Amino acid sequence: MNVLVAGGAGFIGSNLIDALLTEGHRVVCIDNFFIGTRANISHLSGHPQFLFYERDLSDLAAVDEIFQRERFDFVFHMAANSDIQASAKDPVIEYRNTYTTTFNLLESMRVHNVKQLFFCSTSAVYGDVQGVKISETYAPLMPISYYGACKLGCEGLISAFSYMNGFHSLILRFPNVIGPRLTHGAVFDFITRLWQNPKKLTILGDGRQCKPYLYVKDLVDCIMCFKENLPEGVTLYNTGGETQSTVKEIADIVCREMGLRDVEFHYTGGRGGWKGDVPVFAYDLSKIHAAGWYAAMTSDEAVAQTVKDVLSCKQ
Ligand SMILES: NC(=O)c1ccc[n+]([C@@H]2O[C@H](COP(=O)([O-])OP(=O)(O)OC[C@H]3O[C@@H](n4cnc5c(N)ncnc54)[C@H](O)[C@@H]3O)[C@@H](O)[C@H]2O)c1
Repeated sequence: MNVLVAGGAGFIGSNLIDALLTEGHRVVCIDNFFIGTRANISHLSGHPQFLFYERDLSDLAAVDEIFQRERFDFVFHMAANSDIQASAKDPVIEYRNTYTTTFNLLESMRVHNVKQLFFCSTSAVYGDVQGVKISETYAPLMPISYYGACKLGCEGLISAFSYMNGFHSLILRFPNVIGPRLTHGAVFDFITRLWQNPKKLTILGDGRQCKPYLYVKDLVDCIMCFKENLPEGVTLYNTGGETQSTVKEIADIVCREMGLRDVEFHYTGGRGGWKGDVPVFAYDLSKIHAAGWYAAMTSDEAVAQTVKDVLSCKQ
C-alpha cells in the first residue's frame, strides 16, 4: 500500500512506520516537529520506500497539496498534542493540533477519495469513571481534559465522514503507551528527574493513581493486525492490557532498573497528578479479546522494559 503516517516523527508514529516499512508498504510521513523529533526518523533517511514532508497539518491547504501530489490507500493519523499538561494551560494547542488536524485529514480524504483510516483515540474520552471496567458502550462520555474532549470530537467527525463517504475507519482507544522513543509521562519524567537527583524523587499526586500501561510494540502489532480487511464504517476497540500499575509502583520499578536504593519519594498530594488527569481507570477488554488480540506484556513488564529502553538510548 501507499500509506500516509500523519505525525510519524512522534513516539508511536515512528515505531509504526518501522513496522509498515518492514511489511513492504511505501510510507509518506507528515510532521512539523511540534513534539516529534528528526532523531525519531533519522534512521529512515535514504530509505527508498520512505518520504518525509515537514508541514503543519492544521493548515488545510498544506495538507491538500500533499494529497494532490501523492496517492494514498490508507491514512494513519497519529498527530495530536500529546502533552496534556501543556494544553491544560492553553486549550488552543489542543484545538489546533488534535481537532483541526483530524478535520483537515478527513476533508482531504473526502476530496481525494481515500477510504481507509486509522485513528489514535484514548481512554481520556471516557472522563473520570470510577468503580467499573469501562467498555466501548459506556456512556455518557464526559471527558475532563481538553485533550479528551478534542479526541471525542474527532471520533464524532470520523463517524460522520465515514458514514457520508463510505470510509473504512479503525479507532483504537488506548491508555498510556510507553517504550523506545518515549518523550513524556511518568516513566520518562521519573528517569530524567533521577538522572538529575538520584537521592530524591518528586511524584505528582498521592502515588496511588492506577492505570494500565501498554508497551508500544504491543500497540503497533495491534494496529498492524486490525488494519487488514476493515469493514465499511467505524470499527472501535478499547486497546490495552488487563493489568495496571500505580504511580508508586512505577517509581519503584524505575529505581530498581536504574540500580538506585533508598531514594526518598516526595508526593505533591491530591488524587490526580494535575487538573484533567484521570487518576484511576480500568478497561473492559472483552471486545478486542473476542477479536483475538491480547497484549503480550503486563503493565509492570512494560514499565520495566521501557526503563531499559530509555537507559540504553542514553549510553
Ligand atoms: N502516548 C500515549 O500514551 C498515548 C495514549 C493514547 C493516545 N495517544 C495518541 O497517539 C498518537 C501518538 O502519540 P505519541 O505519544 O506518539 O505522541 P507524539 O507527540 O510523540 O506524536 C504526535 C506527533 O504529531 C506531530 N504533530 C502534532 N501536531 C502537528 C501538526 N499540527 N502538524 C504536524 N505534525 C503535528 C508531533 O510533532 C508528533 O511528532 C496521538 O494522537 C496521541 O494523542 C497517545
